Amino acid sequence: VRDGLGRFESLLVLGGTSDIGVATAREAIARGATRVVLAGRDADALEAVAGPLRRPDVDVSTCAFDADDPASHADAVGAAFAGSDIDVVVVAFGVLGDQAKAERDPLEAVRIATTNYVGATSALTVAAEHLRAQGHGDIAVLSSVAGQRVRRSNYVYGASKAGLDRFSQGLADALHPEGIHLLVVRPGFVHTKMTAGMRAAPLATDAASVATALLDGLARRRDIVWVPALFRPIMAILDHLPRALFRRVPM
Ligand SMILES: NC(=O)c1ccc[n+]([C@@H]2O[C@H](COP(=O)([O-])OP(=O)(O)OC[C@H]3O[C@@H](n4cnc5c(N)ncnc54)[C@H](OP(=O)(O)O)[C@@H]3O)[C@@H](O)[C@H]2O)c1
Repeated sequence: VRDGLGRFESLLVLGGTSDIGVATAREAIARGATRVVLAGRDADALEAVAGPLRRPDVDVSTCAFDADDPASHADAVGAAFAGSDIDVVVVAFGVLGDQAKAERDPLEAVRIATTNYVGATSALTVAAEHLRAQGHGDIAVLSSVAGQRVRRSNYVYGASKAGLDRFSQGLADALHPEGIHLLVVRPGFVHTKMTAGMRAAPLATDAASVATALLDGLARRRDIVWVPALFRPIMAILDHLPRALFRRVPM
């Protein structure tokens, strides 16, 4: 349960090998969390990131979770909640995919939509039920600026994040009367393994900065945080750019 300063004890990261997810776990531990569950599909990779987070006073465990298999989510997420409450659930899994391929190959387009949107829809529904049942908790969802105004250069990923973002906002409103808080996090370009080898976009940031913004946003019970914050006014302008002009912006 969170205290008056927004500190909490336990964290579940869905997409436990995500660089942003691991950075969030590290920062949460630094702020006093004592129990972390990293959930993902590669047991060895999970163990490799869990090891360095462990301390005598911090319990870090791993469990199996595949976003692409919604039928398994009740058991997978249930395992993380078994035994004791989870204060914060971070939805950190996602795939960037191959945009050029996805424009021609329906299976690649569907793969991106399945993990980022369908998988998250299922995982969030299951996680929300657990938080309702225990009567408290927070959710943080890794959306993206890419989902705000979907750009030609990555519209498949962007659309999947737009769906996730809007679903999360609806869920936030549904959970609000029950005292459960959901934060939507919209980073720009983040230097992680997802973007390795890519040319950095303007206002590029790192996983630790996203983790700090996420945890500050939770502590302040914010609805949405942009990382960096300057994206908020920038995207407000882009949102209102006429389509003909938007098409000419090289991005
Ligand atoms: N990096 C950026 O520029 C950026 C910007 C805005 C938003 N985001 C979002 O932030 C989140 C974290 O991304 P990141 O930058 O930390 O990238 P990352 O290190 O590549 O993490 C993505 C994680 O998603 C996991 N994943 C993919 N498909 C999965 C599935 N079917 N089931 C379970 N886990 C799955 C991957 O695990 P495996 O090891 O199993 O592949 C990987 O650990 C993502 O949602 C991403 O879209 C990233």
